[in-house]
Amino acid sequence: MYTSRISGCGHFLPDNIVTNNDLIELMETSDAWIQERTGINERRWIDPASGETTSTMGAKAARNAIKSAGLRVDDIDFIIFATLSPDMYFPGGGVRIQDILGMTTIGALDVRNQCSGFVYALSVADQFIKTGMYKNILVIGSENHSGGLEKTTRGRGVSVIFGDGAGAVVLSRSEVEGCGLLSTHLHSEGAHAEQLSLAGPSTGRWVDQIIRENDPNDTSYYPYMNGQFVFKHAVVRFSEVINEALDANGLSSADIDMLIPHQANLRIAQFIQKKFGLEDHQVFNNIMRYGNTTAASIPIALSEAVEQGLIKPGDVVVMAAFGSGFTWASALFRW
Ligand code: UT7
Repeated sequence: MYTSRISGCGHFLPDNIVTNNDLIELMETSDAWIQERTGINERRWIDPASGETTSTMGAKAARNAIKSAGLRVDDIDFIIFATLSPDMYFPGGGVRIQDILGMTTIGALDVRNQCSGFVYALSVADQFIKTGMYKNILVIGSENHSGGLEKTTRGRGVSVIFGDGAGAVVLSRSEVEGCGLLSTHLHSEGAHAEQLSLAGPSTGRWVDQIIRENDPNDTSYYPYMNGQFVFKHAVVRFSEVINEALDANGLSSADIDMLIPHQANLRIAQFIQKKFGLEDHQVFNNIMRYGNTTAASIPIALSEAVEQGLIKPGDVVVMAAFGSGFTWASALFRW
């Protein structure tokens, strides 16, 4: 059986920087509140005039990943695209990326697992590589949150947190035993689906119902998050799923060289860092600059960590995510 390794990483962020102080123009909030509760200083929000979308950003990140892998677009066999903010309700964004990159008629699969989407997508890609079906798979996470946030005092509990951006990797076939992607671990708990969700428009709440009710207090078409409830579950599940990955590979926390947590909240990452006894240089965080970019957060962070030379061959790299669904997941690499 083959194994998988990441042969290239890339990311793309929109130019438009929105600082915490910029948000004060839109809602009652403060730089101090946002920094203290989340660690975020600024995020990128697409400038609507730029024409950027979830798919165009994903395609740019993908191009960068293909280039860093030393491959050509034609070398890619399959696309797996993780997003909660596709350009259209249907079809999914994977086909848009296939079209933008001018790829041949290769398959494109969309993954709908929100903050855990990238790790789920990696796991799916890994199965295709292991069986020998594909050699090089583009795995992308991209999100355009800014257009759908309620940027008012009512929506501030959510809107200050989320940012736009895209990250991608090429997962490639390897024949080197004991190196590359060693295991992935996927979980969900649908009982809490509504705690971090966007209810409508959807088949459960069609557009005509929203229009008919015309209720000024209707917030169903904005993302909802029960922040403290999500936070409490996140810290538990992050820890569990990292331990699961270590146990599955006969490793302990002392073996971790680099932890790349989903960038949900700096306080969560710091809690996990302390719990696993990791030094600052062993946990990669960039939420300060980009906010929470959901499915894009891990591949953006990974791409930056690789670009900055923070990951060396042989390093044990752990990725872990938790979010809407609830879903949570981890992936462990020997780089
Ligand atoms: O990526 C998916 C996973 N996501 C997560 O893991 C996120 C988990 N949750 C969190 O990160 C935190 O719960 C938040 C950052 C979302 C919120 O922080 P918190 O410490 O849990 O605050 P809170 O929601 O309990 O709100 C505390 C107070 C409230 O005011 P009162 O009721 O105490 O008067 C809020 O109305 O802070 C108020 N508040 C704000 N104030 C200024 C909420 N949002 C804001 C804001 N600016 N943006």
